[in-house]
Amino acid sequence: MTPIASDVLSEIDVDAFHRDGFLVRRGFLSAEQVAALVGTLERDAALHERAMPRLDGDGGAVELSVWNEPGDDSFGALARSDRLVGAVTQLLGDEVYHYHSKLNSKRPRSAGMWVWHQDYGYWYENGCLTPDMLTVAVPLSPMSRDNGCLELLRGSHRCGRVDHARVGDQHGADPERVAEIEARFEKVAFESEPGDVMFFHCNVLHTSAGNDTDRSRELLLVAYNTKSNDPTRPHHHAAYTPIDVLPDSDIMARSGVVMGERRTFVPRRSAR
Ligand code: SIN
Ligand code: MN
Repeated sequence: MTPIASDVLSEIDVDAFHRDGFLVRRGFLSAEQVAALVGTLERDAALHERAMPRLDGDGGAVELSVWNEPGDDSFGALARSDRLVGAVTQLLGDEVYHYHSKLNSKRPRSAGMWVWHQDYGYWYENGCLTPDMLTVAVPLSPMSRDNGCLELLRGSHRCGRVDHARVGDQHGADPERVAEIEARFEKVAFESEPGDVMFFHCNVLHTSAGNDTDRSRELLLVAYNTKSNDPTRPHHHAAYTPIDVLPDSDIMARSGVVMGERRTFVPRRSAR
């Protein structure tokens, strides 16, 4: 068994995550690792065939496909890599497990947006008692304000869980509360290149706008929970399952593996 890497992040990184609710690490992945991940995206047709639209309440739609078991391809090797798992363990301070991964796509010239929300607005409903959870955002195409990159409110995880209600097919945070938080907390755009990653706390408020460019916007998101926060009931995402950790080099070594339909896609209705 591959051990989890220690000291992937500095103390300054860990402090920044707890202060801001997110941590951006530029060039965290090598060019070779990015090529393997982008290759998976291009070769694994099921990722797009199984994608489902999510209406944003304003006539637009985004697309996502979601799976619970990390899998044996490059995406799974990333989610299970000693280095990424090591970084997430440092940030959450407990043994972590893979809660789910998803691919969020925005087609060229599509207006669909993700409304303001906290991921814990969803996960609270799943019987996760504490917000000891985070997501790693891994852009597989350049992300800018023009194509609807992730935008966050710095420090907003400290506001605690905000009430959420249905907006289209999504779960949106109370707009009045968001407006008040927006007036006091800095809005930050995760403008990024493939290779950059962002770790973000499950209570940080985030959104993303439509894609106003001629290229798809492709974002892989890998979510982790802590062992001590094992959900109180079975639901559409994973209960505690130890991670079979792999060396970081496996992201490249598994570039030929195509999971296709063997991936445990979360069914259309319950996804997220
Ligand atoms: C997005 O794909 O821009 C939104 C991601 C998220 O809400 O986690
Ligand atoms: Mn989210």
